[in-house]
Amino acid sequence: MYSFDEIIGHLINKVPEELTGHSKFLSVLAYIVAKQLKEDHPELKLDDLFADHMKIASKLHDLGKINIDQNILNKPDKLTTKEYRIMKMHTVYGLMVLTEMTKGISLDINERKLFTICKEVILLHHEREDGSGYPIGINRIPLSAQIMAVVDTYDALTTNRVYHNKVTKEEALEILDHDDDKYNPMDVDSLKRALAKKDFAEIVNNPPLIEVGVSCSYCR
Ligand SMILES: [Fe+2]
Repeated sequence: MYSFDEIIGHLINKVPEELTGHSKFLSVLAYIVAKQLKEDHPELKLDDLFADHMKIASKLHDLGKINIDQNILNKPDKLTTKEYRIMKMHTVYGLMVLTEMTKGISLDINERKLFTICKEVILLHHEREDGSGYPIGINRIPLSAQIMAVVDTYDALTTNRVYHNKVTKEEALEILDHDDDKYNPMDVDSLKRALAKKDFAEIVNNPPLIEVGVSCSYCR
């Protein structure tokens, strides 16, 4: 029987190679936003463990894409309606894989917290505050998935994609500000503050330093 640590580490390695760089970058963004939220909003009573857990869980956010047809995943053109419907299922598939792989494992209190955050991030990272997201269309989104939605969108906007050319970091933050019905302004503000900090900006802009300051057995 594998331990919870070993299973999470195995699943992180299972995320398709072409997504690895993307997921690593996102995990740094998710980590610094969680740290910044702790500083900006003491009323949330966040601890450092939450930021560490966000760093790990964000690496698994697109885990379900391992079950999506490569032709859809790597299609250079716009997806058809049917293909998009299939693509959206990566959120559900990811949760199914995580649940299946951890069946029968007993968890201590911190592992239970990490497990919950992983489930939220995997299933709900495409949900939006106005209920327009998927796979469920909820509008009360857990903080972990809110953060993931903001950093995932920020990354998508600042990267060249099939549908659009990348925009500058400043323009991406403006778009997130404008879409305050979809993204929680509290999270967007903390992303802005975090990116404005020299040490955080250095971590984000220099991927080799990605693990600096984070002691986490999953993040090698
Ligand atoms: Fe996704």
